[in-house]
Amino acid sequence: MKILAIDTSCDETAAAVSDGNILLSNTLSSSMEFQNEWGGVVPIIARKNHINRIDGVVKRALKLANIQKKQVDLIAVTYGPGLAIALEVGIKKAKELASELNIPILGVNHMAGHIYANFGRKKSGVTFSGLNENDIFPLITLLISGGHTELVFMKSHCDFEIIGRTLDDSVGEAFDKIARMLRWGYPGGPIVERFAKEGDENSFKFPVAMAQSGDLNFSFSGLKTAVFREIQTRGSIIQLKNNMSDDEITKHNEKYADEPYAPSISKKPIFELSKKDSINIAASFQKAAADQLILKALAAIKKYKVKNFLLGGGVVNNLYIKKKLRKVLKKEGVELFYPKNKKLLTDNAGMISIAAYYKTLKGGYSDISKLDRKPNLDLGFEEI
Ligand code: KG4
Ligand code: ZN
Repeated sequence: MKILAIDTSCDETAAAVSDGNILLSNTLSSSMEFQNEWGGVVPIIARKNHINRIDGVVKRALKLANIQKKQVDLIAVTYGPGLAIALEVGIKKAKELASELNIPILGVNHMAGHIYANFGRKKSGVTFSGLNENDIFPLITLLISGGHTELVFMKSHCDFEIIGRTLDDSVGEAFDKIARMLRWGYPGGPIVERFAKEGDENSFKFPVAMAQSGDLNFSFSGLKTAVFREIQTRGSIIQLKNNMSDDEITKHNEKYADEPYAPSISKKPIFELSKKDSINIAASFQKAAADQLILKALAAIKKYKVKNFLLGGGVVNNLYIKKKLRKVLKKEGVELFYPKNKKLLTDNAGMISIAAYYKTLKGGYSDISKLDRKPNLDLGFEEI
């Protein structure tokens, strides 16, 4: 079954083609460079770029897969979670294609995509993550992206139970905010990781939140505040955040209040720190963030008695977190899997085509007239 998938949930305009769970192409056009100066994704810019780029990206996905449009059997599209006005563009295009080709359409949950990236296969037949599908359940996936931090338990395919989630910021968001405070640009994760390598992770004792919560939930806003306090204490004010008036800032924040990924503009001043303090703060922050993830991962595997642990989302790019987690899981006899393909970690449509394939095995397609964007879609809510 040839699946053409589209994802426009955030700032990447992405399309991919798979044959079942074998990935044939996975391409995207990112509007990151436009978003950079804002320190986050601005929905209206993302939408405009999706509209301009979607046709070209779909064409490229087909060309790279070396198939004709008419050979496609199913259109898959992300219908949530994500930015409402961005999701809309992909859904509209997907519906146009399904109608034109007279083939079914299937709405896919973006977070299911991040999980199923692990099940994608290369043309040789092996999975990108190295997992063996025959003996993988029950399993837990830790989803760590810019919008989400969740622990998901699965007894079988497409059976998702969220067993833990962040009560405030996601871990990716925390990395992005720390980078913004340190004036390192956006996205923050890769830059914080790079500078953290040069710093001493024991120089600041940032709190590992939720250690005593007795559940599997996360929290990163206390850590962010602790980091900000340290920056405030050690740095000197160099300028206010931007030239917008208080009124303009409030209007901007109100306009995007309901958008899960939109940046709220801060009125906080910008501080300048010494290089030494900056890298030490980055390293100590990363340690505290990783320790919280590991603590909850351990609690989850003990409670649910799983032998397989999967990772999904952009923060999986972080080598420090992966290394630490692998070591701890190994001691418990639990195997760690994640896609060994960078494109399948950050937002992409390849993971959507793979998730769509597994969803078809459960039966049914979406009703084209009812399929609609669901910006706050949860895993498990699959009624479309
Ligand atoms: O999954 P993703 O591409 O998009 C969402 O669905 O949100 O994740 C993006 C997030 C950003 O917050 C980015 O800072 C983070 O992943 N990220 C990292 C690293 N690379 C990307 N965080 C920590 N370390 C990294 N190396
Ligand atoms: Zn994502």
